[in-house]
Amino acid sequence: MIQCWRLDDRRQTLVLGSHREHLAEVLYWGPRLPDDEDLNTLFAVHAIDVTGGMLDLNPELSISPEATRTFPGQPGLIVRASDGAQLLTKFCFEKVEEEPGRLVLTYEDKNNGLTYTARFTINEHTQVIETQASLVSTKPVHLHWMSAPVMPAPQLSDEMIDLAGRWCGEFQINRTAWSPGMRFRENRTGRTGHEHFPGLIIPCRGATNTQGQAYAFHYGWSGGHKMIAEELPDGRRQIQFGHAERMEVAPQTRFETAPLYVTFSDDGLNGCAVAFQRHLRDEIVHMPEPDRPRPVHFNCWEAVYFDHNLPTLKDIAGRAAELGAERFVLDDGWFGYRDDDTRALSDWEVDPRKYPDGLNPLIEHVHSLGMTFGIWFEPEMINPDSNIHRAHPDWALGGEDQILGRNQKALNMALPEVQNFLFDRISAILRDHAIEYIKWDHNRVLPMPDAAQTRGSYALLDRLREEFPLVEIESCASGGGRIDFGILKRTHRVWLSDSNDALERLKMQHNASLFLPAAVTGSHVGPRQCHTSGRTLDMRFRAWVAAQRHMGIEMDPRELTDDEARALRQVIGWWKDNQGWMMKADILLLESPDPAVIAEQQLSVDHKRFVVFAGKATTSSQIAPRPLRLTRLDPDAHYRITLANRDNVSGLSRGTQTLKTESVDLSGTYLMNHGLTLPWSFPETMWVVEGVRL
Ligand code: DGJ
Repeated sequence: MIQCWRLDDRRQTLVLGSHREHLAEVLYWGPRLPDDEDLNTLFAVHAIDVTGGMLDLNPELSISPEATRTFPGQPGLIVRASDGAQLLTKFCFEKVEEEPGRLVLTYEDKNNGLTYTARFTINEHTQVIETQASLVSTKPVHLHWMSAPVMPAPQLSDEMIDLAGRWCGEFQINRTAWSPGMRFRENRTGRTGHEHFPGLIIPCRGATNTQGQAYAFHYGWSGGHKMIAEELPDGRRQIQFGHAERMEVAPQTRFETAPLYVTFSDDGLNGCAVAFQRHLRDEIVHMPEPDRPRPVHFNCWEAVYFDHNLPTLKDIAGRAAELGAERFVLDDGWFGYRDDDTRALSDWEVDPRKYPDGLNPLIEHVHSLGMTFGIWFEPEMINPDSNIHRAHPDWALGGEDQILGRNQKALNMALPEVQNFLFDRISAILRDHAIEYIKWDHNRVLPMPDAAQTRGSYALLDRLREEFPLVEIESCASGGGRIDFGILKRTHRVWLSDSNDALERLKMQHNASLFLPAAVTGSHVGPRQCHTSGRTLDMRFRAWVAAQRHMGIEMDPRELTDDEARALRQVIGWWKDNQGWMMKADILLLESPDPAVIAEQQLSVDHKRFVVFAGKATTSSQIAPRPLRLTRLDPDAHYRITLANRDNVSGLSRGTQTLKTESVDLSGTYLMNHGLTLPWSFPETMWVVEGVRL
């Protein structure tokens, strides 16, 4: 018997089908099909032909391809009995649960005592399909690998795009050509990692940021993932995402993958980016007070590092408030005897030498300046040189002879006593002080990947959120080492990178917006000479790059000249005036005709206004600026265009361009086809263009 199911939103349709009770396969995924499309016919025409050198029938590329069906590529599930023998699975259809926008398929392998379930939900508002697999066994088994339901990739695609990175260099784009065989990425560091962001985009031939078809994937898990993008000998392509292999250390009777988020776009990479941005912002992240404007941050890390001194911190807080900051975040160095990064992690008690009267004098001062107070923790870590390690050496994860990372070990988060200890210590600090924000850090990789560790961290976060529902949490891991939809279900902001270098940030923010909206992406104005790159950048450029996302300051404000302070105050003022709509806007990557220019357009939900940030990363090879085409405007509407920072024009821009002195009214057709010609500018500067629909 043939069985077929479909899921639709306005933009896309996903059709699954199966016969002879085999596991279902995706028959179609792409633009929305007519309501009357005959799914049985799709099933019939979907089969590929057979010729010499092939089996007499092509094995299905199912949602979990099985070796027992002679599937020639990577299987979707590898499981072993508790004695180590491989279980060769053969699942048969058991039942289906179907309701609008949701499909649950269950299969059984009676011989091996296994039940496999695949879930799909489609979100009409965000156009993201969420899918997840689970496995239940009658006896404890070892899970080697389980993919979330396997999705096909189009053959009209020449390359795949994924993101790699490093400390201070997150979200670097890689493009890899398709060829027979597979691209295999795996992060075995035990956290999401800088190295391999769990995302993938498959553009169809000719797709750009603003047009064409593309398919995108994100695996929402913080413990390290594995991705397979494989082209079979017959040309079919499969995408698998799951936890890193062999992360389930002990035999168990239940396993599940994290959710895999996928989307199809017919308007370029931006279609995928907007789907993920909206899904993350509107469905995944739960802001304690969704209507509250995002406060401008001041983080003291690059101002004082471990050198906490109350009068200095009070002075700095006063200056930060005067610049426009609304939330003061006390970073590492306030607890134990934490004078440097060699000691005291886990000793979560206020350092009486630095704060003889506790934290309240500082917090009260911060409040008196009109700012709220946030604090840094690195809960999952422990220094061997700490009271807690001396008392409980067995709480640390990994062997005695392990290589330390930043002089620290990870705590074993699977232990209930560790979770309880951390809950008690963090709760005590939150209960005794008016704290509304935690920067939650995670600065070392694990000795080995272990799913129980990630589940332990999630459990602690969930418990704390339940107890302190108004406290916001920022996910940081040496910058952007733990950014994924799994952690963002439990947190509210990410520290994208430890690099406050605006030039590096400009590129990173651009690429990260393929997955992340502005509201969760922290971006701070760093010191004049960047501490992680040594580069010296002008304040205006630093401030505008931070204003692209959730804005903050992270430097010693005592270094500011009057001119720098004035420029910074001005941009912060602009950000406060605009963040109400910008934090809900879609970030659209523009196709820049000049490789020196990295440009994006933030378009309001009602499409009535937008802002373009055109960052000049380096010197252009052409003498005059190339027009920049905008996107997603109404071709027939007119827009009032204003160069918001026209006072930044350099003396070497000698022409009489209208935008340098006044606003202009232009049609959407003109802006999207000819494009905007901006004034000549120095490298390491930003043009900010505002548009309002007339
Ligand atoms: C690493 C983080 O990424 C920094 O922002 C800072 O919080 C330090 N840790 C503190 O140790």
